[in-house]
Amino acid sequence: PDSQASAAVAPSTAGEPQRDKPGKAKAFDIEAEILPESIVDAAYHSGGYPYGKRMKRKRYSRELEPLQIELQKLTRWAQKQGERIVIVFEGRDGAGKGGTIARFTQHLNPRHARVVALPKPSDTEQGQWYFQRYASEMPTAGEMVFFDRSWYNRAGVERVMDFCKPEETEQFLREAPVFEGMLARDGIRIVKLFLTIGREMQMTRLHARWHDPLKRWKLSPIDFEAIPRFDDYSRAFDAMLARTSTEAAPWFVVRSNDKLRARLNAIRHVLRAIPYKGKDETAIGPLDDKVVVSVARYLD
Ligand code: ADP
Ligand code: AMP
Ligand code: MLT
Repeated sequence: PDSQASAAVAPSTAGEPQRDKPGKAKAFDIEAEILPESIVDAAYHSGGYPYGKRMKRKRYSRELEPLQIELQKLTRWAQKQGERIVIVFEGRDGAGKGGTIARFTQHLNPRHARVVALPKPSDTEQGQWYFQRYASEMPTAGEMVFFDRSWYNRAGVERVMDFCKPEETEQFLREAPVFEGMLARDGIRIVKLFLTIGREMQMTRLHARWHDPLKRWKLSPIDFEAIPRFDDYSRAFDAMLARTSTEAAPWFVVRSNDKLRARLNAIRHVLRAIPYKGKDETAIGPLDDKVVVSVARYLD
């Protein structure tokens, strides 16, 4: 996967080998007005992205609408049947979790589809069972809940940023499948999507956030550590995917350098995973298996 990418570079930190102009040292600098051309050029293909060209906006809009109509059928079915559905979104900073979730929920009734994006745990929550605050957000009958980040923080950001002890991550990796097994056995349907982007794409997205006043709210202190710790995150996520993908709740990886293809295929994957009534296979169309891949294939 992305793990094989080149040396890490940090914001405002010199010293890493230069990739744009040979022999001249220049690191990724989020504050610099202009992002080096080499990074911009490498972004789309970074992390081994399989497509040569971006999907066109027009085609995207044309394909999105029937998928959003299918999502309405799905939520109506869930309402009628009292089904409970959980969709987990994980991925690096800048992978596009929030934007993808926004396209799922855009035309859904907020009473039936809810987004959960929990802040860092409070002191009280720190003292509780780790899964407790997530357990209390689980859907009731008829509800669909989207987790923008989740209990998997313990395998990703908390591990990499040392917000928890290594033993706590280890315990988490053992217990997440047990936790999800209990949910599944109680009838909750769980879909887990891991959005992946390459190193230069992450640089490009974080740089854009810094320089776009409408996106700056998305930048947090944690994001400044994303680039220098890129390889640490790769290792943490690889372990997470390898150890927590189960039959009851398998992970699927969504290659997200192209946001448009990622959103369409994330929705297709969910529509295919859930057996709602009146499903229109033609409207859903074929899932792009270069964009949505199994953990086995991703880690191969
Ligand atoms: P996001 O990328 O989701 O907008 P951040 O980059 O600020 O948010 O943080 C990433 C994740 O790390 C969030 O889920 C946040 O709750 C979590 N986090 C931040 N600080 C801590 C901390 N001290 N302990 C545990 N988790 C934390
Ligand atoms: P993006 O930068 O496009 O990935 O979107 C980031 C955020 O902007 C999302 O979390 C949404 O809340 C919001 N957003 C942007 N465009 C739309 C849209 N067309 N529909 C709904 N929400 C959107
Ligand atoms: C992401 O870019 O992947 C995430 O931005 C953060 C989010 O919007 O939830």
